[in-house]
Amino acid sequence: MKHFAAALLSLVAATTAQQQYAVQGPPLSTRWTSEVGTNPWPSHPRPQMFRPEWQTLNGLWQFSPTDANGLDSPPTGQSLDRQILVPSCIESGLSGIQEDQEFSWWKTSFQAPSDWPQGKTLINFGAVDYEATVFVNGQNAGSHRGGYSRFSLDISDHVQDTNEILVHVHDPTDAEGINIPLGKQRRYRRSHIFYQPCSGIWQTAWIERVPTDYIADVLFDAKADGSITATITGSEGATGDVSVSVREQGSSNEVAVLNGAINTAITGNVNNVRVWAPGAPVLYDVVVTFKDDSVQSYVGFRTVAKTEINGVQRPTVNGKWYLPFSTLDQGYWPDGIYTPPTKEAMQFDVDYLKEIGFNTIRKHIKVEPDEYYAYTDQQGIMVWQDMPSMPHDTTPNQDQTNEFHRQSLEIVNTHAFFPSIVTWVVYNEGWGQQDGPIEEGITNQIRDMDGTRIIDSVSGWNDHGFGDYKDIHSYSDSQCGLINEETRIQVQGEFGGVGLNLSADQLWPDPAAIATIPETYEMATDITAYNNRSIQVLDNLTNQVRNNKCSGGVYTQTTDTEGEVNGLISYSRDISKANIDQWKSALQRLYDAAREKGGF
Ligand SMILES: *[C@@H]1O[C@H](CO)[C@@H](O)[C@H](O)[C@H]1NC(C)=O
Ligand SMILES: *[C@@H]1O[C@H](CO)[C@@H](O)[C@H](O)[C@H]1NC(C)=O
Ligand SMILES: *[C@@H]1O[C@H](CO)[C@@H](O)[C@H](O)[C@H]1NC(C)=O
Repeated sequence: MKHFAAALLSLVAATTAQQQYAVQGPPLSTRWTSEVGTNPWPSHPRPQMFRPEWQTLNGLWQFSPTDANGLDSPPTGQSLDRQILVPSCIESGLSGIQEDQEFSWWKTSFQAPSDWPQGKTLINFGAVDYEATVFVNGQNAGSHRGGYSRFSLDISDHVQDTNEILVHVHDPTDAEGINIPLGKQRRYRRSHIFYQPCSGIWQTAWIERVPTDYIADVLFDAKADGSITATITGSEGATGDVSVSVREQGSSNEVAVLNGAINTAITGNVNNVRVWAPGAPVLYDVVVTFKDDSVQSYVGFRTVAKTEINGVQRPTVNGKWYLPFSTLDQGYWPDGIYTPPTKEAMQFDVDYLKEIGFNTIRKHIKVEPDEYYAYTDQQGIMVWQDMPSMPHDTTPNQDQTNEFHRQSLEIVNTHAFFPSIVTWVVYNEGWGQQDGPIEEGITNQIRDMDGTRIIDSVSGWNDHGFGDYKDIHSYSDSQCGLINEETRIQVQGEFGGVGLNLSADQLWPDPAAIATIPETYEMATDITAYNNRSIQVLDNLTNQVRNNKCSGGVYTQTTDTEGEVNGLISYSRDISKANIDQWKSALQRLYDAAREKGGF
């Protein structure tokens, strides 16, 4: 099955008049679907670096599929015959298109506000899957490859009063011979555990006015002892001094001022610092000033490490072992696929898990918008960030490996800002995993780029001995902390997976997905049995924490996702299978067991 009846309707409608946008009655709605409208994601998309001179480009754009030669002849000055909602995946109901398209053109126009100061104009994209080439008034302004990291292009040389933006998108996903980072997306080889693909501008697109010399990026390494190292990256060729003012949150009360040259590491200290900790997340406001530029930012002081506590290696924050207990979190939506329908919807998932007592989210082979991590920073939820994996069933060649490394390092670079991210996960199981020296190489490259976190080189399957974790996957029967591992942290990186088939109206209505439900590790017959069994599995992990060297776990999974019915909550987020009170008690038993072993 392709994209349901909507694809047929679109074919019929694509005549001479432009086809007007309408939500393609997503196969399964959420309570937020009808709230999206045509002004989606209106909030400032980069909370770590805010300037007032910005304007969203989100909303209705023109859209047209093209072919492999399309990029050679951009349709400058032409109108495209359909409408698409930005940001969205072409394949999603919310896009208004809901089709598979490997090559496409996306078009909009803008006028920069006349009261903006003189300077440069940037066009920013939160994420475009997979390759984007941007044309401004017919001129090629640059391109970006990789579906999971933000990018900015300086379009000052091309802008006029009224500007035409054309974006060419190419997303081969899992086409024959293609081997790229794509996470759970499959266009051709969908299955029980691989889902709908996402192509196109799936996070906010926006423009921004900056001075001639400007702040291109900010990064803080702020530790529990109050020391802070700020690295402020300048625009190309910019030199001069920067000032970093650290303030109590919501006040102008300065607690530290750091001065030094741009593009260097400048250090300072906050006396009597209040730390960022799981469940107690203190953040400070920051204002960074460089010449005529100034951006608002924030920082959390915390130290992430691997620490020996009572003879066992534990993952620690500020020297304390907060047993990380997480769900496997796919971040998929039935209406938006990769794009949460609204910011409230995105926050709902975090709130739901926090309410139950999870203190960690393993963001599984997908990367969220920056506003997500700003939210986990604010909520005091730890994040294990997976790199989006390459296909599970092919071995990458040297070029493909290099590209996976390049994109992974770009994700580390663009997300190292967020204090709630405590662990990078390089490979999921054997998916795209390479032999020992290559795995060791990428682990070391990530550590060299970001020494402020710990690294899980491979979650599950073939352990080559690298990284800070010994991470095991076993579903109904957790096997955590059973071996003698002197130097690494033992965790149950996936377990659980107890399924419950809800009523037909809660299922992703694709017969091929429904046919895979029997592949679930184990199924409960009703909601009582579901809670009974899943809590039994949880309590077993608790015993392993108490009796073995188990330091944490990841329960599969947050939501039902297409043919997977093992969510704590339904795919629509309407029905919590997890009995909140029973799960809260079970998680309390787990944290209590950790406390007996020196945990916080
Ligand atoms: C799950 O429920 C759907 C809808 O009621 C049904 O078609 C399907 O056969 C069920 N599958 C299993 C394995 O129970
Ligand atoms: C829960 O599971 C236990 C052990 O399998 C069983 O003895 C008990 O009857 C179950 N309770 C319910 C309410 O299903
Ligand atoms: C708990 O784990 C042990 C192995 O550590 C296994 O033998 C047992 O069956 C598990 N119990 C449950 C209820 O899953």
